Amino acid sequence: KHKDSQNLVLRPPIVTIMGHVDHGKTTLLDYIRRTRVVEKEEGGITQSIGAYQVEINGKKITFIDTPGHEVFTEMRARGAQATDIVVLVVAADDGVMPQTIEAYNHAKSANVPIIVAINKIDKPNANVELTKQALVSKLSLIPEDWGGDTITVPISAKKGENVDTLLEMILLVAEMQEIKAIPDGPVRAITIETKLDRGYGPVANAIIKDGILHVGDYIIAGKVLGKVKALVNDKGKRIKEAGPATPVMIVGFEELPDSHSVIYSVESLNKAREITEKIREIEQRELRKKRHMKLEE
Ligand code: GTP
Ligand code: NA
Ligand code: MG
Repeated sequence: KHKDSQNLVLRPPIVTIMGHVDHGKTTLLDYIRRTRVVEKEEGGITQSIGAYQVEINGKKITFIDTPGHEVFTEMRARGAQATDIVVLVVAADDGVMPQTIEAYNHAKSANVPIIVAINKIDKPNANVELTKQALVSKLSLIPEDWGGDTITVPISAKKGENVDTLLEMILLVAEMQEIKAIPDGPVRAITIETKLDRGYGPVANAIIKDGILHVGDYIIAGKVLGKVKALVNDKGKRIKEAGPATPVMIVGFEELPDSHSVIYSVESLNKAREITEKIREIEQRELRKKRHMKLEE
């Protein structure tokens, strides 16, 4: 079937929070989560899966947190690619810093809209005007109220000030984008991180982009195959299926998948074996080639 002959459905936006170290990304997400997650955790412990979903007036948003430290370039690059909208957090007492610029470049190369949250406005040394000036001079982002087209929202993640406005802006930008998913057919999920869990074994924390993943489905992540044994949502609750934009912990891989790999569902175990073996073969061939080239040097 051709892609355009399939039904597309609107799905919630996936929003990545990026910015320089300590500018308040996690504080912002914690505040939103605290005030917006209404669903009760049924005996489960809250899973830290690096992403979660909230609901604002019946509309869902999926958030991904990224670290600001310079060693996490790769994670930010992936975050930007997995995402529909980037919220760039810039502390008003510190301004545009190296990882602000780096995050901006990732967002730009992923071609996603950027909303700037000017944070820490509760601090006495906060300077919103100076921060906007730096957005213009260092990133060429011109704020809307200065005649440009960049939405900037001054906030205090700590006190929650203006966070509702930021959420409204996210929903507004998402609506204009008309973000769609292919609901039926194969699953495609973006990995946020993979880890060896004490109880569950090798797991991948991921966000579903297309399709609906079910317990029992065969999956591949690069050269690693698996059968979904369990799905755990961002509230630590076991679920039977996960649709587009759902953050989920996937249990059932035979070994630890690469943290960059996209996860796909396949129709049978044989198919999963066939594909993963092919990927292994190609990898080994490339490795041999590289060794050969080194010897010839
Ligand atoms: P990394 O993940 O390490 O890059 O940092 P981050 O961007 O997630 O920053 P984090 O949320 O950890 O906040 C860093 C520090 O800034 C913490 O001490 C927060 O309490 C503080 N902070 C965050 N937001 C605000 C704010 O709006 N006002 C004030 N006064 N402090 C804030
Ligand atoms: Na921090
Ligand atoms: Mg953080």
